[in-house]
Amino acid sequence: MDWGIQNRLSRIIKPDTKRTVMLAVDHGYFLGPTHKLENARATIKPLVPYADALMLTRGILRTSVDPDTDVPVVLRVSGGSSIIGKNLSNEGITTSIEEAIRLNAAAVALSIFIGTEYEHQTLMNLAHLIDRAKPFGLPVLAVTAVGKELGKRDMRFLALSCRIAAELGASFVKTYYCDEFEKVVESCPVPLVIAGGPKLETELDALIMARDALEKGAIGVDMGRNIWQSPHPVAMIKAVRAVVHQKMSPEEALEVFKKNK
Ligand code: R5P
Repeated sequence: MDWGIQNRLSRIIKPDTKRTVMLAVDHGYFLGPTHKLENARATIKPLVPYADALMLTRGILRTSVDPDTDVPVVLRVSGGSSIIGKNLSNEGITTSIEEAIRLNAAAVALSIFIGTEYEHQTLMNLAHLIDRAKPFGLPVLAVTAVGKELGKRDMRFLALSCRIAAELGASFVKTYYCDEFEKVVESCPVPLVIAGGPKLETELDALIMARDALEKGAIGVDMGRNIWQSPHPVAMIKAVRAVVHQKMSPEEALEVFKKNK
């Protein structure tokens, strides 16, 4: 692997544990002012010290994160549709590689929508982005299935999506946890992180999901709502870190949550 790509990835995926806790705060790019992310700066600021990377758009980065922070940025560079629009999967590339470099991004992220009307377009977006990013040593995170596509949260669909992303050259892939997740991992030759998805009923549920995904081969989480929609977001991200980096059981990590809330 190219030195620059490897170096940037090692800022995100911590070399001592080979795992990562990415904080996803990019939801507004198609959801607008998502619950608890209405004031992005207020939500993000207390969580930054506990995140291995921040996933967000250039607009929220510039307006809501202080430039003196040294947290690696995974810049979302796809978009162009909204949750109330005709078709969520009709995405294009919204941000140039030059802009990503200007913002000192450690990686760029783009969604692909397998099985939709815009499958071809979004896969070509990914291929094009990888071709543009590679000469600059910039890793590309492929994001599989968002929004309405979550209905398709099954192993065969996610394995198909992740494998295609890897075949096109993604450096790492973000997907959702599912039954038989180990099969998604086995057939994807690049590292996988899981999204948290919509807020689960309890903190313990989210910690169990993270633990299960890690045990089945994920290298970490790129979690949003299950952290910042918790009534105690800092306590929750600390608990997630305990599962990911210290390999604590979900029950032990829940004690971390309780102590910090
Ligand atoms: C999709 O909306 C975004 O890429 C999010 O970053 C992703 O869904 C992860 O956030 P959450 O854990 O809230 O699902």
